[in-house]
Amino acid sequence: MSQTIQSVRGMNDILPGEAEFWEIFEETIRSWLKSYGYKPIRLPIVEPTPLFKRAIGEVTDIVEKEMYSFTDSLNGETLTLRPEGTAGCVRALIQHKLAAQQPQRLYYMGQMFRHERPQKGRYRQFNQVGVESFGYAGPDIDAEQILMGARLWDDLGLDGINLQINSLGQPNERANHRVELIAHFERYADVLDEEAKRRLHTNPLRILDSKNPYMQEVIAAAPILVDHLGSESLAHFEGVQQVLRDAGLPYVLNPRLVRGLDYYNLTVFEWITDRLGAQGTVCAGGRYDALVEQLGGKPTPACGFAMGVERLLALMREAGGEPALEGIDVYLVHQGEAASRMAPRVAEGLRDHGIDVLFHCGGGSFKSQMKKADASGAAFAVIIGDDEAQAGEVTLKPLRSQGDQPNEQKRVGVDAVADEIMNSFIDWEEA
Ligand code: HAM
Repeated sequence: MSQTIQSVRGMNDILPGEAEFWEIFEETIRSWLKSYGYKPIRLPIVEPTPLFKRAIGEVTDIVEKEMYSFTDSLNGETLTLRPEGTAGCVRALIQHKLAAQQPQRLYYMGQMFRHERPQKGRYRQFNQVGVESFGYAGPDIDAEQILMGARLWDDLGLDGINLQINSLGQPNERANHRVELIAHFERYADVLDEEAKRRLHTNPLRILDSKNPYMQEVIAAAPILVDHLGSESLAHFEGVQQVLRDAGLPYVLNPRLVRGLDYYNLTVFEWITDRLGAQGTVCAGGRYDALVEQLGGKPTPACGFAMGVERLLALMREAGGEPALEGIDVYLVHQGEAASRMAPRVAEGLRDHGIDVLFHCGGGSFKSQMKKADASGAAFAVIIGDDEAQAGEVTLKPLRSQGDQPNEQKRVGVDAVADEIMNSFIDWEEA
C-alpha cells in the first residue's frame, strides 16, 4: 500500500464546516474596511529575499530563523515566502508609484509563512488581514487605525481585547536610549541569557521583549525610551492619545512594547487578549515613516497594522460568537427517466430566482434521496417523479417545521414553484 502524504507541520487545512466561517469573517472584514475608505491590494506570496531582510531587519527573529527562503532552481533567484505583508505592500507602492499623486489607504488578506514552533495560535502558515496607509504624517491616522480595531472587535462580537501603546520615537532618539540600554544590560551581563548577549550590541531594544523569567527584574529596571523622546515625538504620541481619550477608548501605556520588526518609529500598538494562552496578540502595528525611502522610494510617512485571522476566529469560537451557517434552500430529488431529464431545468430555473439548490446526483430510490434531503439541512425538497414530470409539476415538501405552520407537501406547477418557495420564506420571516 502506498504511504499517504500529510500536510506540512504547522500548515493547516481549513475544512468545510470551518471554511464557511472564514468566508463570513472575510465579508465582515471587507465591509468594515470599506467603511473606513480602505482599498484592496493583492500581492504576491513570494518576494525577493532581500526585500524582507532590508525591511524587517537582519537582526530579528523573523529574518534570522523563521523565513522560508529558497533558490529558484530555474534562474538562481533567492526568494522567500512572505512572512508578513508590509514589505511587499511597500515594494508594490514604490514599483507602481501609488503614492505619487495622493495618499493611500490599502488592505490585503492572505497567507503568511514563518518557520516558528507550532502551537495553539502559532502556525507556520497563518493568515493576516493587513492595513497600510501611506502619505499621512499626523497622529490622526494612527489613532483612526487604533479605533478601527475597536470597532472590528465590536462588529465581531468580541470583548476582552486590550490595547497597549507605546512610542518608539525617532532613530536619533533611540540612539541615545540605546547607549544607556547597553550600559544598563552590560552591568547585569551575568543575568543575560545567550540570546540577550548576542543582541546586546546589535538589537538591544529586543531584549526588552524577552520572556525569560530570570531577566524580568533587570528588564523592569532598564531605562525607558519615552524618557528620551523630544518634543515632536511626544506631541505626536500625545496627539494619538488625545483621540483615544476623546473616543473613550481605554488603553495601557506599555513603555516596553517594542515589536519584533525593525521598521517602526513613533506609535506602536498591540491588541492583546488573555483568553488564548501564550499567543494572545491578535493584532499589532504602528508607524514606519522611514521604510518607503529605505526601500528606494520617495520619503512617505506610513502607518499600519495586521491581525492574525486564526487567533481572531479562535477567540470568536471561544466566545460562542460564531455566526449561524445558512442552510441550502432546496434539495432536488428526482427519479425516473422523464423526471431526471426535467430536473436540471427545474434546478436552473430556481437558481434564476436566486434560490440555492443542492441537486441530487447519483440516482437511488426516493427513500434514500429523501434521507439525504433531510440530512442536507435544506428548507425544502423539490421532488420530481414520472408522475410530476408528466403533469409539468413538482412536489414541494417543507423539511423544517416553522412554528405552528402546517408542514404539508403540495403539488405545484413548474412555473410557480419559485414563487411558492419565496412566499414561504417571507411568511416564515414574518411569523
Ligand atoms: P506581527 O506582529 O509580526 O506584525 O504580526 C501581526 C499579527 O499576526 C500578530 O499579532 C498575530 O496575531 C499574527 N501572527 C503573527 N505570527 C503568527 C503565527 N506564526 N501564527 C499565527 N498568527 C500569527 C506584522 O506582521 C506587521 N506586518 C504588522 C504591520 C502592518 N505593521 C505595520 N503594518
